[in-house]
Amino acid sequence: MTSATAATGPTTTGAELAARLRETRARTLALVAGIDDERLQRQHDPLMSPLVWDLAHIAAYADLWLSRAPGAAAPLRPDVFALYDAFEQPRAVRGDLPLLDPRQARDYLAATLDRACACAEATDMSADAPPIVRDGFLWDLLLEHEEQHRETMLQALALAPRGWIVPERARLPVRAGAPTGVVALPGGTFTLGSTSGFAYDNEGPAHVVEVAPFALDRAPVTVGAWRAFVADGGYADPRLWSDTGWAWRAEHGISRPLYWSEDGETARRFDRDDPLGDAEPVLHVSAHEADAFARWRGARLPTEVEWEYAARLHPTADPVLGGTTFAPGPVGSGNGILGLTGDAWEWTSTEFAAYPGFAAFPYREYSEVFFARGYRVLRGGSWATAPCVARPTFRNWDKPERRQIFAGLRCAENL
Ligand code: AVJ
Ligand code: FE
Repeated sequence: MTSATAATGPTTTGAELAARLRETRARTLALVAGIDDERLQRQHDPLMSPLVWDLAHIAAYADLWLSRAPGAAAPLRPDVFALYDAFEQPRAVRGDLPLLDPRQARDYLAATLDRACACAEATDMSADAPPIVRDGFLWDLLLEHEEQHRETMLQALALAPRGWIVPERARLPVRAGAPTGVVALPGGTFTLGSTSGFAYDNEGPAHVVEVAPFALDRAPVTVGAWRAFVADGGYADPRLWSDTGWAWRAEHGISRPLYWSEDGETARRFDRDDPLGDAEPVLHVSAHEADAFARWRGARLPTEVEWEYAARLHPTADPVLGGTTFAPGPVGSGNGILGLTGDAWEWTSTEFAAYPGFAAFPYREYSEVFFARGYRVLRGGSWATAPCVARPTFRNWDKPERRQIFAGLRCAENL
């Protein structure tokens, strides 16, 4: 399949993409297999869609983009496109829409998956093909879109009343103690952004940037470190917080990460309370809390440029957990300096914005409409993130006050 001479040819084939789409689909369906129809249709939190919305949205997204492939047939259900347009329908209203029921949503998923696979095998993906299908772009888009929604569904299930799912948990990796301390990185220039393989529009254009010397934590901030921050009165000292962060903290009475018990011993995870291990990455903290922690440490959050630079200088290849464990492993289980991808989404200090020369592709509502609107960039990926998404150039973003995402941090220091 791969050979030295294939470097300029397509890096994938329709059959491979079809097989990957079917694997991803099996994981999506397995996640919701035990959930009854009433729960699938219930919006239990205004922050999250009803699960049945995510399911039919995955199908509608595929239906829409497959109909844009060269020579494609007309879409199957253009009549429901508006219902599943994420931009037209804010999350808070999705529970009130006349959505497809779970049976219809599953049928729609099956029909569009068959179409995606047939189309993948029949389409010319060569360098001469239009950009939407070249090198399999369209199918990678559908794959990553579905994987991202699976992580979103995991967020919704984590927030749902106890017992909506009783996950079968894959075994966590074992590690000998949490790596501590910082790694000094020399200053220099590097190419920020994606230069090969599938990437979203916001990961480009790749361009050379300069980075001053800095130090970065070897691992994401751990539960143990967060307990010390709490014990030291970190949540009670306004000097550690930005004005907005302090106001947010006070308004919502925040005194510990989301899901933590009051004594900091356990965290609610799906159907049960798990004991919190000192070596786990802290998760479910907002960017405001992350900022305060960094200040308490006498450090700061890294910029997203620093983060990607570190990931480029320290690549490793440990497996990403891929949403199978329903809990984080000890820090350093992921890739990178240590755990750069796969332990936690890591808050950065950077506002989500366009790289110079940005061009929206294939649509403005993926990235462009979120640029420079107060969203914060997160890098890395958590236990709930699919390996294909957790790449060093991937840019995630959310509002700084959000805590339902699987987000933690690591600190940077000037040298
Ligand atoms: C990249 C996670 C912020 O959920 O809004 C899913 C991903 N975009 N469908 C989001 C996405 C379109 C996106 N994030
Ligand atoms: Fe989507």
